[in-house]
Amino acid sequence: MKKNILTIGGSTSNNSINKKLAEHAGSFMKNVNIINIDLNDYKMPLFSVDVEAEQGYSKGVVDLNEIFDTADGFIVSLAEHNGAYSAAFKNAYDWISRIKGKVWRNKPMLLLSASPGVRGGKSVLNIALGKFPYMGANIIGSMPFPLFDENFKDGEVVNPELKEELLKLVKEFEKSL
Ligand SMILES: Cc1cc2nc3c(=O)[nH]c(=O)nc-3n(C[C@H](O)[C@H](O)[C@H](O)COP(=O)(O)O)c2cc1C
Repeated sequence: MKKNILTIGGSTSNNSINKKLAEHAGSFMKNVNIINIDLNDYKMPLFSVDVEAEQGYSKGVVDLNEIFDTADGFIVSLAEHNGAYSAAFKNAYDWISRIKGKVWRNKPMLLLSASPGVRGGKSVLNIALGKFPYMGANIIGSMPFPLFDENFKDGEVVNPELKEELLKLVKEFEKSL
């Protein structure tokens, strides 16, 4: 049976560059079932212990958690907001962690970040590199993707070094499945 790979952009922007990058990385993979997650499809309130106690888990949280259960691997690209996770990603992440502490199910992960700036979201990437392993991520490789608008055009990585690096990481990720 084909393995399920979930691609996730850590953002709810309609034109999320991280969603584009995660999906693009997934598109290089052969003989796997790619499931592109759009966090907008999973509605959930802002997390608080009180909302959790009063309302329990919304359908969006339950559905997202269920689809995480089907994953054999994750390709995640994180948006950087003020040096950290976007609020939308962190909210979904916190909700799921209440159902399943090992959010990433001890599965392989290719971890990316993209931004229009020169650091390519390196700060949020470093936060995730430090913390995701405690939440069940087996991080196979990671890469910040800088200057997105210059380096990614018409659905392709146009910077040869970044393209080579991304392809190399996708291959390593593929091997780890
Ligand atoms: C509130 C806010 C804070 C941001 N902070 C950063 C930042 O710390 N570092 C950075 O490189 N870009 C920052 N940006 C720019 C984002 O990287 C840019 O909006 C990017 O497109 C976000 O990813 P997305 O398109 O996947 O949502 C910020 C954008 C917003 C709206």
